[in-house]
Amino acid sequence: MASAPMPLRRPRLQAAVMARPAELQVATPATRQIPHVITITSGKGGVGKTNLTANIGWHLRQLRRRVLIIDADLGLANIDVLLGLSPEFNLGHVIRGEKSMAEVLMRGPGGMRILPADSGVTELTELNDSQRMRILSEMESLQEDFDYILIDTGAGIASNVMYFNLAAQTMVVVVTPEPTSLTDAYALIKVLSGRYRQRRFKILANDVRDEAEGSEVFTNLTRVTDRFLDVSLDYLGCVPHAPQLRKAVQMQRLLSEVEPNSAAASAIRKLARKIGALENDPLRCDMGILWRNLLTRGS
Ligand SMILES: Nc1ncnc2c1ncn2[C@@H]1O[C@H](COP(=O)(O)OP(=O)(O)O)[C@@H](O)[C@H]1O
Ligand SMILES: [Mg+2]
Repeated sequence: MASAPMPLRRPRLQAAVMARPAELQVATPATRQIPHVITITSGKGGVGKTNLTANIGWHLRQLRRRVLIIDADLGLANIDVLLGLSPEFNLGHVIRGEKSMAEVLMRGPGGMRILPADSGVTELTELNDSQRMRILSEMESLQEDFDYILIDTGAGIASNVMYFNLAAQTMVVVVTPEPTSLTDAYALIKVLSGRYRQRRFKILANDVRDEAEGSEVFTNLTRVTDRFLDVSLDYLGCVPHAPQLRKAVQMQRLLSEVEPNSAAASAIRKLARKIGALENDPLRCDMGILWRNLLTRGS
């Protein structure tokens, strides 16, 4: 016993770089030292990112995970509206150095914490390097408090969308059966893989008729990515069209709360379980690595 190696006591950065053997990796959310940062992103707007982020977060809370949702759609923020919150402060105050992230957090349904964005403030749609680093160091200051940080990004290939995706360990690309959603998802993946060397993406098919249509969306996307890009796509699953969603949005309540037995809420619950079981990529689960990623590739 005395001669057993103690690799877990190494500094985290070094440990991550050395890619420890599987049996020594920190695998369960309860013992993970830093939160699993997941972006919910898309090429096209209006595909359901904000609704999915909030509902997935809510289900992760039901699984007793500590969840922070960051609204990073700096052009068109709306998670606060979706949840009926009236934020006094928002991510804009954090970016300008006026407030810390902890001071801006709000309590959302089920005990999720929400970091609202600053809707429509165009100066924030293009962040400079020091503003980006401030966001990352603020995120780092909260890392002990959360198991999951879900980031609801803006749509498209703007530099901020790239930035938040690079800061994540897992990227979930939301696609609907609409042809434009598919081509825009392809464009996003192309830029993230070509310019920023990202290889692995999770695909979530939303607003589908049935499971078959969800699989078809994934197949159609992989058909083109396999042909033209060096990437690996995993199918996370699908969420069916939810006729009840409009009413829930009007009530400023979550679908999963008001219609827990709907097919869409059940599908989202399943997805949240799947996300809850994902392991952090050991090479991306260290904030030091993420910082380097952002400094060398993120601008
Ligand atoms: N599964 C779904 N079923 C029915 N409508 C949906 C579904 N997902 C999204 N929508 C519709 O799309 C709209 C935009 O969703 P939102 O989450 O705001 O998208 P995004 O954040 O990607 O812009 C919703 O208000 C809703 O009307
Ligand atoms: Mg949105």
